[in-house]
Amino acid sequence: MQHDSSVPAGRICDTLIRNVSVIDGSGNAPFMADVALAGGRILHIAVAGTGIDSDADWQAQHIIDGAGKVLSPGFIDVHTHDDTNVIRMPGMLPKLSQGVTTVVVGNCGISAAPVSLKNEPPDPMNLLGKAGDFTYPTFASYVEAIHQAQPSVNVAALVGHTALRSNQMDRLDRAATEAEIAAMCSQLREALEHGALGLSTGLAYGNAMQAPTSEVLALAAPLADAGAIYATHLRSEFADILEAMEEAFRIGKHARVAVVISHLKCAGVENWGRSGEVLQALEQAQRYQPVGCDCYPYTASSSTLDLKQVTDTIDIRVTWSEPFPAMGGKLLADIAKEWQLDLVTTARRLQPAGAVYHCMLDEDVNRILNHPATVIGSDGLPNDPFPHPRLWGAFPRVLGHYSREQKLFPLTVAIRKMTGLSAERFGLLERGLVRAGFWADLVLFDPETVRDAATFDDPMQPAEGIEAVWVNGVLSYLGGSKKEATGLRAGRFLARQTGLRPVAAR
Ligand code: ZN
Ligand code: CU
Repeated sequence: MQHDSSVPAGRICDTLIRNVSVIDGSGNAPFMADVALAGGRILHIAVAGTGIDSDADWQAQHIIDGAGKVLSPGFIDVHTHDDTNVIRMPGMLPKLSQGVTTVVVGNCGISAAPVSLKNEPPDPMNLLGKAGDFTYPTFASYVEAIHQAQPSVNVAALVGHTALRSNQMDRLDRAATEAEIAAMCSQLREALEHGALGLSTGLAYGNAMQAPTSEVLALAAPLADAGAIYATHLRSEFADILEAMEEAFRIGKHARVAVVISHLKCAGVENWGRSGEVLQALEQAQRYQPVGCDCYPYTASSSTLDLKQVTDTIDIRVTWSEPFPAMGGKLLADIAKEWQLDLVTTARRLQPAGAVYHCMLDEDVNRILNHPATVIGSDGLPNDPFPHPRLWGAFPRVLGHYSREQKLFPLTVAIRKMTGLSAERFGLLERGLVRAGFWADLVLFDPETVRDAATFDDPMQPAEGIEAVWVNGVLSYLGGSKKEATGLRAGRFLARQTGLRPVAAR
């Protein structure tokens, strides 16, 4: 980092963050600096020891002493289901308290927009809210609602394939007709014109499973024109994972779009130990096309309670059940014992319901997290009354548990996987790096103490060691002993920047 000696003394900025160890999100080594923010952006980075910048050089409204702690780009949560929560609960404390400054919504084939529901949302769209929470028949109306709500974090959005299906089809246990595909395509185009990042699928779910590859291929066609991406919850994360990856790559290659494999994992006891093989397949594809993946730093998954995943080989904890709310937090096996029923019958009786599945091996998760293609996404489920701890803990867990304690990778690499690489992958321009001119999404944390406090037994706990979070230059969260949002919410809707027709600026 070169000091910019053209900066004259006596400059004015909104905020001056002094004496911080900058880890800039590129993977580069840390360096000591003072960082000046103005107009929502990083105005200047004064590298320590250059002898030019001193207190007298700057007039700042707010001066923060970083006390030698780490200042990095705000974390980008590339895999979320915060679609309706960014509007209904714009404080977004589960994310902000981790240092997350941007969320990508609309993953796993489900999105809040564009959606018109006649009944309750189909599985797993019910993870996003109740029928009344889906009030965005067009993507444009969703963007407008985000402007109105002004959440505390930035929001970028994918469009869900299952959401489009539910708009156009009378039943979801079949392939879409040509006319239905055409209608879905035109909704997708509307969304892309208004800044959607791309399309997501959740082909493992019952309500998308019957969609043949050709249906997804047809929908992927508008993506290339727009420079958008294809993110997929694979058709299988179990025995057939390689075939499912092959399908995803085929779609990406044919449609000429970048592929993101969502929450890459080897799920199920029979599948443990296959991460090497899986990553080899990914590397093989990378030779011919842009491919990446995201991963959450836990050995347990979570979603709706899926009868196909019910087994006695792993612990399954029920997180919620509509007919039996009191069962939330209990092990499926314990409920089955109580009811004197087998596991599948018990699971069927609990529907609709959610669950945490302890379905992965440490060694596989480590290998996938460590892979250079992997960025971090929480996959947190914000509407679960007893959520998987990833909702509150994913990012600090990568820093504390995986980087500092397990030494899986250096801190600079951990941060790159949560910032610079993520922004690159999802086309979020001028975000994800501590660079002069970039938006001032920043987090200050203590590398010695940062850690996730949320656990499977006590999952709604803010992280330790996150000191301060700025979103678009606005101080939005103060950690320490307070752990409170400041009440200032400065998040924006982040429209896709590639291939986008100019729309009215806001
Ligand atoms: Zn998923
Ligand atoms: Cu997901």
